[in-house]
Amino acid sequence: MKSVTYSKYGAPEVLEIQETEKPTPKDDEVLVQIRATSVNPAEWYAMTGLFLARLGGGLLKPKDSRLGVDYAGVVEAVGKDITQFKVGDEVYGARSGAFAEYVCVKNHIYLKPTNITFEQAGSVAVAAMTALQALRDYGNLQAGQKVLINGASGGVGTFTVQIAKALGAEVTAVCSSQNVELIRALGADHVIDYTKEDFTRNGKRYDVFIDIVGSRSWRECKRVLNPNAHFVIVGGKKGKVIGPLSHVINIRLAALGSSQKVAFFVASFKREDFLLLNDMLKSGQVKPVVEKSYPLEKISDAMRHLGTGHAKGKIVVTIG
Ligand SMILES: NC(=O)c1ccc[n+]([C@@H]2O[C@H](COP(=O)([O-])OP(=O)(O)OC[C@H]3O[C@@H](n4cnc5c(N)ncnc54)[C@H](OP(=O)(O)O)[C@@H]3O)[C@@H](O)[C@H]2O)c1
Repeated sequence: MKSVTYSKYGAPEVLEIQETEKPTPKDDEVLVQIRATSVNPAEWYAMTGLFLARLGGGLLKPKDSRLGVDYAGVVEAVGKDITQFKVGDEVYGARSGAFAEYVCVKNHIYLKPTNITFEQAGSVAVAAMTALQALRDYGNLQAGQKVLINGASGGVGTFTVQIAKALGAEVTAVCSSQNVELIRALGADHVIDYTKEDFTRNGKRYDVFIDIVGSRSWRECKRVLNPNAHFVIVGGKKGKVIGPLSHVINIRLAALGSSQKVAFFVASFKREDFLLLNDMLKSGQVKPVVEKSYPLEKISDAMRHLGTGHAKGKIVVTIG
């Protein structure tokens, strides 16, 4: 089967398409033929060899030559213990090594809602899980509260806007001029164009602040926070050594002694969260936004696109 592999850290050119052995499902696994996957900043960090990524992933060169997590595809075979899925089912979920024609999946596999395409389903796992956990678990968002989302137009942001609305919040979303209409269409109650207006100086206050882009300092952000607000750091600038963590450290230090609660987290895949997201997708409350799809052979271009830092929703890679 065709897989994306890399044997050294670097720019997107290090990614290669190679023939690798097609996996065989164990008794408790499902073999999925992947139709679509998507690129996330985590893969960017793993590919470029961010210092922190090297600590676990190989100091001088990657220990694991595979990349990718999000997937959507069709069940090609099932192990003998599998009863929930059958050959031909359309599925999606999360599995490492998803930049490939096939993966064997044991845990995160769900029936694809019929109202979304493979491309949309293949863009869900990392970004939507991050959005849900940021709002609900770390932002403690309650229906009726006011939430500000900084970095609303990217992969995580477009899910965050929609999930916040689904959870009953009043949503203010920050994005650039070209994305204002998109974000309004996703349901945001108020949209602030960061190229025209400084959201930290408009006198408004929020209960929850989801900081996806890390473009502002704590001193600036604090101006718009209610005294008991939750400030959730999802990401930050792509620093070369510790990446967005330098932003996390700066904010945490600056916020010491403040009444607001500051949280940083790394999203984790949970079955019950996937099932909730699945319901939101089925009901149409959440619609994955796909800016562009690249064929597997153009995976380096997909990564370059992500690397600009100006994706509009998700960047997808189609297979087959
Ligand atoms: N904590 C976790 O578990 C977790 C999980 C996934 C991702 N992340 C992190 O979250 C961050 C975003 O990920 P992503 O997948 O959403 O990235 P992405 O798809 O590349 O989106 C980046 C977005 O940031 C917007 N942006 C850039 N500068 C901005 C500014 N000054 N103000 C407001 N928006 C701005 C861009 O919109 P414009 O083009 O309009 O500027 C773009 O839509 C990354 O740092 C990633 O590492 C964390």
